[in-house]
Amino acid sequence: MNDLLPTELAAWHRVESTLRESGWQYGYQEIRTPMLEKTALFKQSIGEQTDIVEKEMYTFVDSGEESLSLRPEATASTVRACIQHGMLHNQQQRFWYMGPMFRRERPQKGRYRQFHQFGIEAFGWQGPDIDSEIIRIGERIWHTLGVTGVDLEINSLGSSESRLAYRNALKAYLQDHVNQLDEDSLRRLDRNPLRILDSKNPQTQEILVRAPDIIQFLSSSERAHFDEICKSLESSRVNYRVNPKLVRGLDYYTSTVFEWTTNQLGAQAAVCAGGRYDSLVENRGGKFTPAIGFAMGMERLIELVKLQDVSNSDHSNLIYVIDTNPDRARSIRLSEQLRDAGFHVQDHCGESKLKNQLKRADQSGAAIALITGEQELADDIVQVKTLRGDGGQEKVPASQLVEWCRNNLLRGL
Ligand code: HAM
Repeated sequence: MNDLLPTELAAWHRVESTLRESGWQYGYQEIRTPMLEKTALFKQSIGEQTDIVEKEMYTFVDSGEESLSLRPEATASTVRACIQHGMLHNQQQRFWYMGPMFRRERPQKGRYRQFHQFGIEAFGWQGPDIDSEIIRIGERIWHTLGVTGVDLEINSLGSSESRLAYRNALKAYLQDHVNQLDEDSLRRLDRNPLRILDSKNPQTQEILVRAPDIIQFLSSSERAHFDEICKSLESSRVNYRVNPKLVRGLDYYTSTVFEWTTNQLGAQAAVCAGGRYDSLVENRGGKFTPAIGFAMGMERLIELVKLQDVSNSDHSNLIYVIDTNPDRARSIRLSEQLRDAGFHVQDHCGESKLKNQLKRADQSGAAIALITGEQELADDIVQVKTLRGDGGQEKVPASQLVEWCRNNLLRGL
């Protein structure tokens, strides 16, 4: 566990303010949860057979005979808080958080027993728009901080049914090579064969080259979801690599998983990682709520940062972007242009009628809504609707949109 001394804290403050701003830029709100939770929360959420729960938690029994643990991560706590405060009933939520986490790992450069995470969690979106949005937040953070050389890998773990079919196929394949597996992999073979994909043993990695890929076991709708994410990342010019062997060390993941790694930090290569956890809310006693998020290791990020001047705009005007066209490429492009110009922009993720999108825009607290659809695309314009005051609407040529927002939003509508 590290002391952070005044000489180091200037860099921390700079990075923290960029992270906060990135959350706000996409319309995410801060959430803070306690550092201590009931041990059962982590056992049941992260999984009894994970390294974190089996070996790494700081757990103690308090004077009330209750088993408590220091949080090893914050996704489980965020889910607990959302259910406890009834925040998921017919609502969608976007959160960010930042703070210390605790894992009793073997300390080394980039791996600490108290470390800090910046995390993002979104609840209530089933479709691929939100997966793409969350990945773009990560990309924007590297870009704003001037961090280079972080590579994105993505994969899909499918539903529990597809995963089970894959698990059986992988197990059958590995059983044919049982004599060549090391002790660690043998231990995992029965209980959690997918974790063998993570093995650092070169001989095991060689065996895995010809192992079946999970992508072949996805249903057509799971495959379509994954393809949509890839398409959206491509149209936003986000570089990625599909890694069919990418699995995660926490059991709550379903469907999309992703990780940014770098070769600049030695053995601790993962800077940021996350994915979908569509079943966790329901497993914890809430109503079925699809969810997705990521967390980045701040110590690792700060190590990577070339300290640059980050200009933080201090306006708080939010723009809500509505697209009635199922192909969101245009509205995503417009939103990213506006963020480039320093505005806070919230995209309507997921399909719904214009009326519902407008309702969400109103609830978001945004100052204006931008509306685009097939006609607007054809005319190369955007409809700008004022959400406060008179609620007027006007057509603005796409090429003048940033200028329009500068003139009207920053100087007051
Ligand atoms: P995780 O992969 O366990 O995921 O951790 C996320 C990131 O935290 C890692 O990529 C790494 O940068 C950093 N990290 C983890 N352990 C340490 C350590 N001992 N020392 C320094 N940095 C570390 C999660 O925690 C999930 N809750 C992420 C998530 C959010 N998934 C969905 N929502």
